[in-house]
Amino acid sequence: MDGNGRWAKKRNLPRSAGHKKGAETLQEIVKGASEMGIKYMTVYAFSTENWKRDEEEVNYLMDLLRQYLKNELKEINKQGGKILFIGERNMLANDIVTQMENIEKQTAGNDKFTFIVALSYGSRAEIISGVKKISSLVANGDMSISDIDEKSFSSALYTYGIPDPDLVIRTSGEQRISNYLLWQIAYSELFFTKTLWPDFTVAELKEIVDDFNSRERRYGKV
Ligand code: IPE
Ligand code: MG
Repeated sequence: MDGNGRWAKKRNLPRSAGHKKGAETLQEIVKGASEMGIKYMTVYAFSTENWKRDEEEVNYLMDLLRQYLKNELKEINKQGGKILFIGERNMLANDIVTQMENIEKQTAGNDKFTFIVALSYGSRAEIISGVKKISSLVANGDMSISDIDEKSFSSALYTYGIPDPDLVIRTSGEQRISNYLLWQIAYSELFFTKTLWPDFTVAELKEIVDDFNSRERRYGKV
């Protein structure tokens, strides 16, 4: 979800207004995606690098998140969705972590779709934490080096149990991955749209999914 700041700038509004509109867009997209039958959707809400923004903007985003989590929980629960969080929880405020844990607990029994929020997330940090988990298993004699393979390594990541994404969409015209799910997107189709995140719609999501369905995925085969 990129382009909130530019959306606001175009309208001579503070960046916070873009984030607010972006959160509304997210509500629409989650609803639309689940209605389209998408089983797993992950959004990049806040990266480990986003902590380096001005304190004012970070505080605004955290307050928006508190509100979003409070409102969206009921909505997604009602729709039968499960919510999971991936990222560095130790960097987030305690009350937010508590909110996240409650949401995960309350929606754990839902199976219509899974909505994953990458929060304080960085893919390299995730990979390092996976390496540490596996190393300590090996060091303690609970795992042998020959058991380290793609499957066991995937299980050591935050996304344990979540299938790799079929499709990655980045809004706002940037053509970068920016430390997002690096391991998991090895074979994902990538889609870049110029639309700024606050302007993104369910109709555009549908167009992108149609385009995705027309692509031929070969996974290295001919
Ligand atoms: C994405 O919009 C939202 C977050 C990273 C929280 P940006 O805030 O990155 O918007 P631009 O890139 O400045 O337009
Ligand atoms: Mg940006």
